[in-house]
Amino acid sequence: MAIVTIRLKGISMFKKSFIAAIFFVFFGMGAFNLSAQTKSKAILSGIPWFDNNGNTVSAHGANIIKEKGKYYLFGEGHKDGTNAFAGFNCYSSSDLYNWKFESIALPVQLTGKLDSNSVGERPKVMKCPSTGEYVMYVHADTLGYKSQYVGYATAKKITGPYSFNGPILFNGKPIKKWDMGTFQDKDGSGYVLLHGGDIYKLNPDYKSISEQINKAFEKGFESPAIFKKDSLYYFLGSDLTGWERNDNYYFTATSLKGPWTKQGFIAPPGTLTWNSQTTFVLPIEGTKETTFMFMGDRWSFPKQNSAATYIWQPLQVDGHKIAMPVFNEAWKIDVKAGVNSSGEIKGNEIAANDQQIIYTGNWQQDTLAVKSSDTKGDAFSFTVKGTQVGIYGLARPDGGYANVIIRNSKGKTVLTSSIDMYSKYPTVLLKFLSPVLKNDSYTVTLTVLGERWWWKEKSGRVSGSKGDVVSFEKIMVIE
Ligand code: GLA
Repeated sequence: MAIVTIRLKGISMFKKSFIAAIFFVFFGMGAFNLSAQTKSKAILSGIPWFDNNGNTVSAHGANIIKEKGKYYLFGEGHKDGTNAFAGFNCYSSSDLYNWKFESIALPVQLTGKLDSNSVGERPKVMKCPSTGEYVMYVHADTLGYKSQYVGYATAKKITGPYSFNGPILFNGKPIKKWDMGTFQDKDGSGYVLLHGGDIYKLNPDYKSISEQINKAFEKGFESPAIFKKDSLYYFLGSDLTGWERNDNYYFTATSLKGPWTKQGFIAPPGTLTWNSQTTFVLPIEGTKETTFMFMGDRWSFPKQNSAATYIWQPLQVDGHKIAMPVFNEAWKIDVKAGVNSSGEIKGNEIAANDQQIIYTGNWQQDTLAVKSSDTKGDAFSFTVKGTQVGIYGLARPDGGYANVIIRNSKGKTVLTSSIDMYSKYPTVLLKFLSPVLKNDSYTVTLTVLGERWWWKEKSGRVSGSKGDVVSFEKIMVIE
């Protein structure tokens, strides 16, 4: 794929790509509501997505299955400000760009595990070939991650409602591990994967385990995901750093029973898997070829709903080697042919130091033609004519949160969103892209929130940003 990259401090920055979306919007709770269907023409990574209702797409730790030509996305629904279980959401799409909210597939339970005072993560759904039922596997836990098991839920319809059945049993006992994934082989056999590398084979009804076919072989190795190409299995996972990013790595084997051979990192080391954590690999099987789509999460506690984003990238798969050598800010997939191609976000650029931009507060001009502030309430605004507006910023180790509001020519708020400017290494990225709006004059205001991404890992270590800085580089206006 042709790429245009910008380099800053030796780090590959971004690929310009194209995206379009049609939204009719009005202000909603923390997001905005759409009265018409979103139309996006690319897969965009690292910026908030909005569903057909104008709400942020909240489906992290996700997987996707295809049914009758439609893709169904299942993932953790989050609320900002809390880590408590908020239900597992289901969305559908026919192009992998535009997501329709279908249901809270598994809602918060009234009591027990997966109630409003617990943790529920990494839902994975498979259709059981022998019963025709849909089975969802989940990590169920207490809020402090102290008492976990792999749970399962079943539904007759793909969108649910799923009934939670408690722990899946192996020899009559629950599997007391946390990060999990699933893999369905071509012969219809289903597997549950656990952090460290355990693989359990499901019984034909998918409701209990028949045998453990692979024992944990690696320390950490969270967010396990397996895919298969030809006769080779690829086992992906992350280091154990909580929601902080790390360089995820993978193994290959000709049998799920191993032996598994460590192959290396999935993305260039130091990029921290392009600032994400693996959750699933979707084979997009078409008439011409198969694109393997890496699905990762760019977590953002305490704004896991409004500011956590998705890193979905085409994986290069060649023999025992897989790679994501560049970060595709936007790319296209022809789901019929299975062929991926580049996209490009094209527009007029307005630099941070342009006089059209009105700053309030104490913004500093950096050497990098970037304007920065970490003071709560500092803001900038500008008015542009067009249909779509993007914001590029310098994500950095002391990056914080910003809020963006777009008002139309009548002064009506049409959109509001969060932006997370944290990255362990400095990198200029597209941090926000509005959907395509009605051609009008829009006033965009970005406000520094004076808050940041942080997380206390299971080990007690606190990770995340060291500051609340919002560094703004340029605007992209699409007419
Ligand atoms: C890791 C896991 C996530 C979640 C967080 C919480 O990132 O992969 O599923 O449990 O830790 O710290």
